[in-house]
Amino acid sequence: MRCMRIVPMRLDHLAGVLDLGHRVFDVTAMPYTSWSLSSVAVHLDAQPDACWVAEDEQAGVVGFVLSSLSYDERDDWGYLEWIAVDPTHQGRGLAGRLLDASCRALFAAGATRIVTDVEQSNTASAGLMQRNGFTDSVTVTLFFRRAEHEQGHPAAERRPSAPPRDPARARLRAAARTTE
Ligand SMILES: CC(C)(COP(=O)(O)OP(=O)(O)OC[C@H]1O[C@@H](n2cnc3c(N)ncnc32)[C@H](O)[C@@H]1OP(=O)(O)O)[C@@H](O)C(=O)NCCC(=O)NCCS
Repeated sequence: MRCMRIVPMRLDHLAGVLDLGHRVFDVTAMPYTSWSLSSVAVHLDAQPDACWVAEDEQAGVVGFVLSSLSYDERDDWGYLEWIAVDPTHQGRGLAGRLLDASCRALFAAGATRIVTDVEQSNTASAGLMQRNGFTDSVTVTLFFRRAEHEQGHPAAERRPSAPPRDPARARLRAAARTTE
């Protein structure tokens, strides 16, 4: 039987976390547009005890959660910002275990509450939060006003064919290849 462990995130997990995020988040759409090596590194740097990964002995990183202390100027609120599980490992309770480890760390570090935000159509994420003690609070709707030259042009509605480039990601992958 293959061994699956929930462990604190380490530096050598960076490439695996970044890649998994790029596979499961649509980085061309809100609220995932800020997914990048820098956003992962900021979490690991600021609150390493609240960053956890699910590690498969053969596949490597198959899940992660990245949280931090302080939300919207409140130092006593934790923010669970990113959580993901590889599609081939979903539905086995891995996200619940990751979420639990991260929340325990945030409460131990002094959080009085933990905030997370869920995009309206993400029922898997909403279900996960509700099963794990999160209750609905404020709903914020993002409204967009397009530049005039984009209005009425079907091309402007289409998603770009490639996600935005993350130069740091390419460098990290190259470095990982040379150490293999
Ligand atoms: C949201 C997401 C992280 C959930 O991951 P997951 O590992 O499938 O979540 P869980 O396994 O904990 O729960 C999923 C289901 O498995 C069930 N499950 C199966 N075995 C289980 C077990 N042993 N223990 C607990 N739950 C189990 C849960 O009850 C739940 O069922 P339901 O959806 O029918 O209610 C995952 O769908 C994902 O990565 N989505 C893409 C990224 C994303 O949108 N992230 C959120 C925004 S940052």
